[in-house]
Amino acid sequence: RHRWLHGERPSQPVEFDDETGMWHIYGYPEAVSVLGDPATYSSDVARRFVPGADQWDFDGNLTQLDPPEHKKLRTLVSRAFTPKMVADLESSIAKVTNGLIDELDTDEFDLVDAIAYPLPMIVIADLLGTPREDRDLIKQWADDSLAERGQIKTKDEDGEQARSIASQRDDQRKMDDYLLEHVTDRRKNPKEDLLTSLIQAEVDGDRLTDNQVVNFASLLFFAGHITTTMLLGNTLLCLDAYPDQMARVREDRALVPLAIEESLRYLSPLASAYRATNVDVELGGTRIPKDQMLEVWLAAANRDPRQFTDPDTFDISRTPNPHLGFSHGIHFCLGGPLARLEGRVALNILLERFAELRVDHDRAPEFLTSPDFTGVWTLPLRT
Ligand code: HEM
Repeated sequence: RHRWLHGERPSQPVEFDDETGMWHIYGYPEAVSVLGDPATYSSDVARRFVPGADQWDFDGNLTQLDPPEHKKLRTLVSRAFTPKMVADLESSIAKVTNGLIDELDTDEFDLVDAIAYPLPMIVIADLLGTPREDRDLIKQWADDSLAERGQIKTKDEDGEQARSIASQRDDQRKMDDYLLEHVTDRRKNPKEDLLTSLIQAEVDGDRLTDNQVVNFASLLFFAGHITTTMLLGNTLLCLDAYPDQMARVREDRALVPLAIEESLRYLSPLASAYRATNVDVELGGTRIPKDQMLEVWLAAANRDPRQFTDPDTFDISRTPNPHLGFSHGIHFCLGGPLARLEGRVALNILLERFAELRVDHDRAPEFLTSPDFTGVWTLPLRT
């Protein structure tokens, strides 16, 4: 599914897949057209295409909403999840990163295990205000859910267009019960945390229900964790593969944010986004009927030579770098500033604390075998 990672270019920007009954969108301008037009291309995909999903609770899940409901919910959660709240996390992200490095007792370590996996989870838990001691519990749910996602079916038994994500639901329920306990507590005992801010957020007299707060908080764990893990691992992997660029970043730390952006383009952690056609459309010279499911390959669009010169080369000097790693349009990643901050802080600290950081190719890095994510799942480093 991730064939462009090996330099293979899709032959057309839009392709129908007989096996899954889905349309794949690979081209950059085509992806931008789809993501930028929510009236034509709906995000209400699970309910429309996953059998049984109409029974699920999507209340508070921004990713599945279309206007005007999307705008209403996004405005409300944005009142709580503010740029200031994210910026204020900088020193605690640095502290957590340094703490994780302090725990290392050897000069060889797996970057994913040691830092890239735990850091984003601790950051989200701290942001929401749930106790760090519960980290192992949450890790368990997240791991189980991810393992099950790896077994996503490409077609349901009835031959309908579908990709089942049903097995995630048990872990989701455990996570939701856990979060609800905390939401109930914050109603009685408000704290300085995101859960409390979400409960208190108000726009034109509207407020979030407990259920919406729970579903949104749980979305943060699923949307903001593994994606950020991938970002951190991938950035180190790419810099290691291009030693001249690693040297430049070491010398001039102002280049760190550019390295993060190029990593998001070159190895986009969330490989694709899904949409459904509301009407018959013409896209990239192809006619797509109404009520079809589209998989918009952000990772492939980010390597479209019509948009990026020499797209299979990792090059931190691309400015501007209008990659689609965080999507485009109304669903543009709400956690983008947080992911960028975590990437910048962690990379700076790694470069400061280790005069040398090399990927240990005797113990080859492994990519996560997931249809949804692109990135390394083990990254052995030598210092
Ligand atoms: C949405 C990628 C980190 C929260 C998205 C979307 C993408 C994305 C591609 C849009 C999908 C679509 O258009 O359907 C990433 C990547 C990350 C990252 C690559 C890390 C490198 C985070 C973090 C958080 C977060 C740290 C929060 C803690 C969200 C939320 C949405 C979202 C709430 C839904 C926005 C909406 O539908 O309006 N993310 N994300 N993400 N992301 Fe992220």
